[in-house]
This record gives sequence, C-alpha cells and structure tokens, in this order.
Amino acid sequence: MSTVIVRLPASRPRRYDIRIEPGLLGQLGACVTRLTGGRYRFAVVISDSTVGPLYGRAAIRSLAAADIRAELLTFPAGEAHKTIASAQRLWDGLARLPVERATPVIALGGGVAGDVAGFVAACYLRGLPVVQVPTTLLACVDSSVGGKTGVDHPVAGKNSIGAFHQPIGVLIDPLLLASLPQREWSCGLAESVKHGVALDAKFFAWLKSHADELADIARRPNRRVAESADLLVRLIRWNCRIKAAVVSADERESGLRSVLNFGHTVGHAIEALAGFGRLHHGEAVGIGMMVATRIAVARGLADAKLADELGSLLDRLGLPAAVPGRLPAGEIVRWTKKDKKVRGGAVRFVLPAGIGRTKIVNDVSAEEISRAIEASR
Ligand code: NAD
Ligand code: GLY
Repeated sequence: MSTVIVRLPASRPRRYDIRIEPGLLGQLGACVTRLTGGRYRFAVVISDSTVGPLYGRAAIRSLAAADIRAELLTFPAGEAHKTIASAQRLWDGLARLPVERATPVIALGGGVAGDVAGFVAACYLRGLPVVQVPTTLLACVDSSVGGKTGVDHPVAGKNSIGAFHQPIGVLIDPLLLASLPQREWSCGLAESVKHGVALDAKFFAWLKSHADELADIARRPNRRVAESADLLVRLIRWNCRIKAAVVSADERESGLRSVLNFGHTVGHAIEALAGFGRLHHGEAVGIGMMVATRIAVARGLADAKLADELGSLLDRLGLPAAVPGRLPAGEIVRWTKKDKKVRGGAVRFVLPAGIGRTKIVNDVSAEEISRAIEASR
C-alpha cells in the first residue's frame, strides 16, 4: 500500500466578520469593496420575490455608489421554492451575466434566500464568494452564519442537497426587519430559544426577562424596529456569538455543531409532513424542541419543570408548542428516519439535560417519540 498526502493551503477565507449595525445596507457597496479588496466591479444580488422588490434596489444603489455594477436575480419566495429548480434558474441567470470565479454574490433575504443563494454560489464555477445580508430575524440570528447552504428534496427531505460554503462576510442591518411579518418574527425568536436551551443558560434567562418586549416588537404596526434597535442588536449579537463559537469549534458538524439541531429531528419531519411552507421552519423547530424536551423528561434526563418553562416561553413569544393534531405520530416517526442526523440507521436526538446543556443520543425508540408527540398535542 502506498499513501499520498494532499496538503491543503488555507485557500478559502478562514475567518469572516459578522457586522451588525442599523443602516448597514446603505454601506453595502463600501463593505463589498473592502471584503473583495476592491478588485471586482461587478456583483450579483440574489434574492427572493418578496425581498428583491423591497430591498434589491437599495442594495444595487449602494453597490453602484462604490462603483460596483450589480444585477439582481430573484426566485419565488417561500420554502416551497427552496428547490433544485430554483437553483437551476439562478444558474441559468448567472450564465447570462459576466460572472467570473471571483464575482461576489450578495445573498439578500431570509434563510431560504440565504441557503439557496449560498448553494448556487457554492456550485457555480466551483465556488463564488458570498456575502450574506440576512433580512429575517431567523437569518440574522442563525442561518446567515456558519456556511450551511442547500435546497430541499421532496423525498430525501429538508436541506438534503447542499454544501458547506462559508460567506466572506455577514452584514446585518436590523432596520430591514421593519417589514417582517409577525409570524416570521416569532420564527427568529424560536432559533434564539434553541441557542439558549442548548448552549447558554444566561442567554435563556435574558430571553425570558425580555420576552414581552421582544414579542411586542412583532405586534407593532410597521414593526417600528428603530425604537428597539439597541435591544435588537443585543439579541442578534448574542445569538451570533453563540453560533460563531460553535461553528469555529466544529465547522462541518462532526461533533459539537450537532447540538444546534436541537428540535430539528421532529421539527424537520413535521415541517415536511405539514407541507413545506404551511408550518414555518421556526415554528416547527419550536414544536420539535417541545417533543425532544418531553423525551428527555420521560427518560429522567431533564426535570419536568424544563418542559413547562420552555412551553411558557414559546407561548409568550407567539410560537406554537403543540404538534398539529392532523399529523399522525407514526408518520412523523417514519420521517425522522430520513433525517440527515441518522447515523448507521439510528436516529440521533439532541436532548436537553437542563438549560444550556444537552446530550446526544441514538437510542430513542419509536414508542418514546410517539409518546412525546401525543403528550405534545
Ligand atoms: P424565509 O427566507 O422563507 O423568509 C420568510 C418569509 O419572509 C419569506 O416569504 C420572505 O420572502 C419574507 N421576508 C424575508 N425578509 C423579509 C423582510 N425583511 N420583510 C418582509 N418579508 C421578508 O424563511 P426564514 O425563516 O428566514 O428561513 C427559514 C429557512 O432557513 C429554512 O429553509 C431553514 O432550513 C433555513 N435555515 C438554515 C440554517 C443554516 O444554518 N443555513 C439555519 C436555520 C434555518
Ligand atoms: N442551524 C444548524 C446549524 O447551522 O448547524
């Protein structure tokens, strides 16, 4: 036997900054110039059909002010369009433009646009640089950071076709959340709760003490986020710090990063079974966290108080905590077996062992899952 070693130079960016600042979209051009060393005078903004009309022009204007010509490509909004067909149309669009391997792609939108644009960029010419500009709270606190990109597959499930492709920068302008529908606001808070329960007890306590104010922002007409800019920056920064620490320690999810899947095993199943787009991702994750917590309580891993505490926080944040009655437990259990978290045929569950602590197990039986689902109706 002979062995040849391939040593890889640090050819891809190995660090990047997450900037959080009200009004940052207006500085997009200057930021992209700095991130690309000012070498590229052309960029592509990829967005969805809701966010493109809202913020696409402002993005292009800011790029033009920095002497960067940009084209906007959009695809239909919503999880139902997080597909290879959308990616294909975007690749067709890129092929018609003067795109080179170093042409920056600006992913402007929520988690769906960020994941799709990131994936499109990861594959085109074997990898274009991406700047993530998140516009939903969920994308600000979670999906824009960490480099997971991809699309859903109708049989294989959520995010089953994808790539790790880290952005060269993440630019977060909390003022863009002013137009966010109330339901989407709550979805971002669900991922924040996930970070608290799974990794940071202090953050969970902070969320509890600010829950009413955070939920109230969602209820304000026109969101009026500027009034709560400091609170929002604090919320986003705390989440980004938690996520950045995890991703830095385990970029490709060979260990620690899997704790970020807390709530996702059942969450992905019910999101897909409800029909992509009916139950929103953050809502499904919230319900998934409840089911995982009930499994942990039934096993004696966590105190029953934890389920009550989690349920009451989700409720205060405007999130559902109950599994929809129309989804049969057996179907949910069957779907969990398709999840990316399956290892050697066993479904991996991230179970809470208290606030800020988790245990990953692969021996949860179908009966345990079903019982926890029924207890969560
Ligand atoms: P989304 O991107 O579908 O956005 C929700 C809706 O809000 C869409 O209709 C969108 O057009 C609209 N929207 C976005 N920004 C808006 C704004 N500022 N004003 C008005 N409307 C706006 O959904 P999401 O909740 O942001 O993201 C969910 C997706 O993120 C899921 O596909 C999930 O798998 C993915 N995700 C990825 C990661 C990751 O690490 N890559 C992490 C968590 C979630
Ligand atoms: N949202 C899970 C992760 O980024 O790993």
